[in-house]
Amino acid sequence: MSRVVARGPGRVNLIGEHTDYNDGLALPFAIDRGVTVTAEPLPRGDRIEARALDLGEEDAFALGEIGASEGWRAFVRGTVAELQAAGHAVRPCRITIEGDLPHGSGLSSSAALEAALCLALIEDDDVDRVELAKLCSRVENDHVGARTGLLDQLAVLCGKEGHALRIDFRPPGFAPWANTRKGTWPPGPAIPSIEPVPLELGDWRLVTLDSGASHEHAGGGYNERRAECAAACEALGIESLREATSADGLPAPLDRRVRHVLTENARVDAMAAALAAHDLERAGELLSASHASLRDDYEASVPEVERTVEALERAGAAGARMVGGGFGGSVLALFPPGATPPEGAVSVAPGPAAGRL
Ligand code: GLA
Repeated sequence: MSRVVARGPGRVNLIGEHTDYNDGLALPFAIDRGVTVTAEPLPRGDRIEARALDLGEEDAFALGEIGASEGWRAFVRGTVAELQAAGHAVRPCRITIEGDLPHGSGLSSSAALEAALCLALIEDDDVDRVELAKLCSRVENDHVGARTGLLDQLAVLCGKEGHALRIDFRPPGFAPWANTRKGTWPPGPAIPSIEPVPLELGDWRLVTLDSGASHEHAGGGYNERRAECAAACEALGIESLREATSADGLPAPLDRRVRHVLTENARVDAMAAALAAHDLERAGELLSASHASLRDDYEASVPEVERTVEALERAGAAGARMVGGGFGGSVLALFPPGATPPEGAVSVAPGPAAGRL
């Protein structure tokens, strides 16, 4: 093994939030900001030494005795453990992590890091990307403690320049896998369907603006929402919310959670249709409708996010919505030609998937 440098991009989810673990639909894309991991072989010993340059922190552990940890260290240790469990030979090396994707900003620095780590550490990077995404999601679920779905990892590992990905987490003919009751994705035959959708915005542009409120998936609201969706499945006697047709009769707040998932799945296809018709006004309306649903039905907003949405709308956005797990993080907005986004907003466009440099 020689020195390997791999880059994992962040992601923006255009629409389809909190649908992945409910076997639903989403429309994310990889962006041009991300995390870079360099792996340099160590001539002797059996250790992994890791440095997070942006944080000024270090870690070291033996390959035969990885042990648990927290924060960024849990991602590194978890990735090495899952690679080994999947039969990849991980060699002793020094890992350096750096990036331009702020942690906790809702642009999936986690998936960017997992993907870059995997591609830097595996012997041969010609691997099945969906299986790698599942492996990364096991790192988050089983080692970091965030019960996240597969959205971010697929966007980051399967993204296509100039395109969003329409992901159906339960394509016709497949049994439920990603649903809240079963937990994370196992290796094996379940394969979400991934269809690239051209993202042609002409003179319009998408921006993200950080709300300043950081979020952590491993605690708080995200895992609670996921448990509520599982409870709704139980009450409805179904395996996953993809089988639900109505929220009627459920006790509050489960009825609101289900209503969000049902209407959000419908908005994903409405967005794909709006993009195909180059109807960007409609695309903006759908972003705002998604935000209202996440705020009122899913109750995943916080005051900082609401203020950020308002600032973007005042600046002339055709639509704006929180992205990612919510409870903080960034807001995505679509601006028509001629409008000037507020200070701090950063343009985002669909970039290439994770890869070796
Ligand atoms: C986070 C999770 C994803 C997904 C989104 C919400 O980004 O990592 O799996 O659930 O939140 O859509």
